[in-house]
Amino acid sequence: MCGIVGYVGPRPALEVVVDGLRRLEYRGYDSAGVAVIDPVGGLRTAKKAGRIENLDKELAHQTITGTTGMGHTRWATHGAPTDRNAHPHVSGDGRVAVVHNGIIENFRELRRELEAQGTEFRSETDSEAVAHLVAAQLRGGAASLADAVRAVCRRLAGSFTLVVLDRDDPDVVVAARRNSPLVLGVGDGEMFLGSDVAAFIEFTREAVELGQDQVVELRRGGYTVTDFDGAPAHGRAYHVGWDLSAAEKGGYDYFMLKEIDEQPGAVADTLRGHLVDGHIVLDEQRVDVQELREIDKVFVVACGSSFHAGLIGKQAIEHWTRVPVEVELASEFRYRDPVLDRQTLVVAISQSGETADTLEALRYARDQRARVLAICNTNGAQIPRESDAVLYTHAGPEIGVASTKAFLAQVAAVELVGLAIAQARGTKYGDEIGREFDALAAVPDKIAEVLADLDPVRAVAREIAASKAVLFLGRHVGYPVALEGALKLKELAYMHAEGFPAGELKHGPIALIEDGLPVVVIMPSPTARSVLHQKVGSNIAEIKARGARTIVVAEAGDVAAREHADHLIEVPATPTLASPLVATVPLQVLAAEIAQARGYDIDKPRNLAKSVTVE
Ligand code: F6R
Repeated sequence: MCGIVGYVGPRPALEVVVDGLRRLEYRGYDSAGVAVIDPVGGLRTAKKAGRIENLDKELAHQTITGTTGMGHTRWATHGAPTDRNAHPHVSGDGRVAVVHNGIIENFRELRRELEAQGTEFRSETDSEAVAHLVAAQLRGGAASLADAVRAVCRRLAGSFTLVVLDRDDPDVVVAARRNSPLVLGVGDGEMFLGSDVAAFIEFTREAVELGQDQVVELRRGGYTVTDFDGAPAHGRAYHVGWDLSAAEKGGYDYFMLKEIDEQPGAVADTLRGHLVDGHIVLDEQRVDVQELREIDKVFVVACGSSFHAGLIGKQAIEHWTRVPVEVELASEFRYRDPVLDRQTLVVAISQSGETADTLEALRYARDQRARVLAICNTNGAQIPRESDAVLYTHAGPEIGVASTKAFLAQVAAVELVGLAIAQARGTKYGDEIGREFDALAAVPDKIAEVLADLDPVRAVAREIAASKAVLFLGRHVGYPVALEGALKLKELAYMHAEGFPAGELKHGPIALIEDGLPVVVIMPSPTARSVLHQKVGSNIAEIKARGARTIVVAEAGDVAAREHADHLIEVPATPTLASPLVATVPLQVLAAEIAQARGYDIDKPRNLAKSVTVE
């Protein structure tokens, strides 16, 4: 949540920073602001509530020069999304500017202390306190801006990425990090900062991930990292494996539409290299085979779409390994008293690798001596860094706020984990594991088939775009697909949408059915689990009899589905455990089409941000 950009070098800082903010806008779009140290005008700031276009308009009336600067795009926590609460925040003496991502938990006591000393606050944010505190350190004789920032960091509780400028030291940018992300970009005679590498990918692919509780001082010629006490420290340097084109729309109207089309590649790339000589191999493995053999329980912890990927994974892992799997929302897991021990494997699924609840859940699990394996799409993010093992999804950068390609990649990855456990425990023979892997490997072509024939989905979308609500029904792996379809519709089209297990209908939800209510049903394969196929067929008949308009997602050639469907969306036949990878795709498109028909921006749904770094 919140995007941060920083720059020091020979280029006009304002352009670099505003371009970086545009690439990070998916992290929050309540307000945007910049600060530049201008050789003529001193510390110059501009900030505006709303999207970056509003800031652009504000900047159009100003001439700001200077080659050291920073910017911020906000997802509001403390204080409404107003101009006043937008970042940067400047100290009362006008010397120090700060942008902040995260929450300063002890800000009330810091604010009281500062107010008692006569400091006037101009915003309701927690972040403003940092600007005043850093300025006070400088006035009190701190040897450098970096020293002042370190002293302040030692007093802060909570999570924060901070970038700080000092008007009186124009060639330096200082940043600090605890829990929220921060990456440096190392250029030739110039240095960049970003909440993620998209902020500076246009200029350099050499990145350094700043570690927990570190402060970095950037100058044109290089950077120095220390801990909060000033002891030398190191970030983790890496080369970014993708380029600017991956972070651009490439001719699409929205990132989400591009990302939906990229799904065959995302699944193929996630599976690639994980079956070697008939053996499943995971990435960075610090959970050894003996430990996998001994686990007696798996917990999957995640939020939102990643949680739905976990629900699909449960079906596969239990089926292949006979180890019981519990799937829990990370925000619930960490505040109860789950039963974990050394023989528990916790699988933490997160696209961003930053989600605060998932991070805290895995920390809790490690405290209980459980082993933690992360499934993550972001190289070097905090969640994989703190886990015992990691399996990276290779979906590439996902910029649309609603997860699409990352979700499918997570499903593929969690099933790979299931196969690895089955292999370690010997609950499947090698050839069976090979066949299951092949079923997954065949999916990208099937997704491509779905993407090649979206007219029926678009036609339904147009017809139901004005509806007040839509229900989604599924059973077995179809249930999490229904949940995911409903979540996409809620977040993109702001429509009331609910996913239910089809078998639960008669226990209450059927009362919602009224004439013309659209109900999307995920039909199980007629071959693999014909009992369930028949049961869902009966469920459709029941709601149709009560006036529902049925939209059925079914395998091509499913005659019974055709009989029950007012609208039929056919997908290629796929083995049950791999089928969510195919059946989810039309539901993503349905939500995107309805949202566009209702006039909404599908990349930036209201109230949301891509990475939820606060609880
Ligand atoms: C929905 C969506 C969210 C995320 C959730 C977890 O489309 O994108 O529900 O899935 O916020 O995020 P990660 O996977 O980054 O932990």
